[in-house]
Amino acid sequence: MCGIIGYVGRQPALPILLGGLRRLEYRGYDSAGIALQEPRGQLTTVRAVGKVARLTEKVNAQLPPAAQVAAQTGIAHTRWATHGAPTEANAHPHAAAEGRLCLVHNGIIENYRSIRARLEAKGHVFLSETDTEALARLIGEHYQGDLRKAVGQALAQVEGAYGIAVLAVDQPGVLVVARKGSPLVLGLGDGETLVASDAAALVAHTRRVIYLDDGDIAVLTADSVDIRDRHDVIREREVAELGLTAGAVEKGGYAHFMLKEIYEQPESVRNALRGRLDAEHGTAVLAGMGTSSRDLAEIQRIILVGCGTSLHAGQVGEFAFEDLADLNAEVQQAAEFRYRNPLVGSHDLVLAISQSGETADTLAAVREAKAKGALVLGLVNVVGSTIARETGQGVFIHAGPEISVASTKAFTGQVAVLLLMALRLGRGRRLSLERGRALVAELARLPELIEQVLAQNDAIASVAARMATAEHAFFLGRGPMHPVALEGALKLKEISYVHAEGYHAAEMKHGPIALLTPGTPVVVLANRSPQLDKVWSNAEECKARGARIVAVVTAGQSADTIADDRIVIPDCDPLVATIPAAVALQLLAYHVARLRGCSIDQPRNLAKSVTVE
Ligand code: G6P
Repeated sequence: MCGIIGYVGRQPALPILLGGLRRLEYRGYDSAGIALQEPRGQLTTVRAVGKVARLTEKVNAQLPPAAQVAAQTGIAHTRWATHGAPTEANAHPHAAAEGRLCLVHNGIIENYRSIRARLEAKGHVFLSETDTEALARLIGEHYQGDLRKAVGQALAQVEGAYGIAVLAVDQPGVLVVARKGSPLVLGLGDGETLVASDAAALVAHTRRVIYLDDGDIAVLTADSVDIRDRHDVIREREVAELGLTAGAVEKGGYAHFMLKEIYEQPESVRNALRGRLDAEHGTAVLAGMGTSSRDLAEIQRIILVGCGTSLHAGQVGEFAFEDLADLNAEVQQAAEFRYRNPLVGSHDLVLAISQSGETADTLAAVREAKAKGALVLGLVNVVGSTIARETGQGVFIHAGPEISVASTKAFTGQVAVLLLMALRLGRGRRLSLERGRALVAELARLPELIEQVLAQNDAIASVAARMATAEHAFFLGRGPMHPVALEGALKLKEISYVHAEGYHAAEMKHGPIALLTPGTPVVVLANRSPQLDKVWSNAEECKARGARIVAVVTAGQSADTIADDRIVIPDCDPLVATIPAAVALQLLAYHVARLRGCSIDQPRNLAKSVTVE
């Protein structure tokens, strides 16, 4: 949510900042801005409504070529609006102290109203509706030539979340950055230092990074990094090596990142499974669960927390833990967790599921669960992310960078790892060796099962063509396919703007069926499962009201008479089938969005990483 990049070094800052913004654009893309600092300190700011391409055009139109190469320091921002509409006035950077300093910010300053009122009473005239301008002006109020000190004094008065980068006219070549609740990572180059809200923006320049901790304030120059913690104590933070490659954050010939990521799933799921299947003992080896078998045996309940797509993965996990591990499992929305007095204790395992590892609500749930003494594990994709670091133990899904705002390979990686965890816990309880071995064999086939779905891309595109003009759609499933239906509906609404609802197939008749009109597409997850007959009955009820049935069926299943369109997934265990079925629905949503001419990788109003509550 909002992307920040900053540079201080000896090269022209402009192309580095614009390149970084393009990599970060998935975090927010309703407006963007840049501030360039010339060696003598002068600051030039350009801001634009819309995407980074629009900002680039504006920079080229406004800045003469000499000015474009003069600056070797700068900050830039791509915005996902929280306070105030996406206008140029609300875009970052925001200036303060009569233009002597400027700031970019990711997060929310929760007490900005009172700060603003106080500053207005002192005569400040605000130029934007943002919370960020209040912070910029507050820093300006404290600024007397020592930028780090002013930032520290101002931040001591704010509540909320922030990742910020600040420049001052009279401190050329010095970048002050700070974080609390919003991620910031420093990139250490040769005679240059970068900062970004996401390592993806750094990978083209350096692989040596430092993840700042909450409360850190750092002063960056081309050759130095000075980090102080919340108590103003100088800290040496560990320098980590980025595992990412620049190629991993490129489209690599695909029309969209989403399509690339859908097609990466045989490989990303293989990575999630690699080294973790124990065929002989019919179990999973998950070093990251980091807990002794005895501790795991004492777990009485699993609580899965997450948001969005990660929440849906958790809902599949809930079935797996109950079915395979005989464990009481429940999913809780991360956003509610800490506000509902969760009854959590030392016999509970809380699993925090997050692709980015930065989602504010999920992070808050982690902190709450830890405070209550639960065993907390992360199920995260991004190594080095806040949730990964704060949980300190857990299992990475190793899906690689997910750039498309609509999550695809993270979901299948999360479900694959949840199945591994359920298998591992199950084998420590009552799950038989025989069933364990059968599941290991099924899981090992997953990359191939996904390939078989991808091979039907053209057929799925044809089904999509028959859905593309619909304004409403329903997705129905039972058992572990219910969350897959929710996820299928989410994918469709996120990227195609078709109003889509996911329901438990049996719930349709309790109200939503009233919405069916002739031709409304109803996607039914009708794969092989113990509840298949019931699913077909629910589909019949929709068909009888004129719905168009798009059935996701298992290969070799006896032919039904009611489906208007069929998408075939390979035969496999009903829990495992959630993954190929999800891939089929991802492709379906992708093609509907493509046919409707939507901005697939950057859907309107959304952001990839939601670091505000
Ligand atoms: C945003 C994204 C979703 C994602 C959700 C949770 O809403 O657009 O795709 O599922 O955040 O993100 P996380 O990184 O915690 O999985």
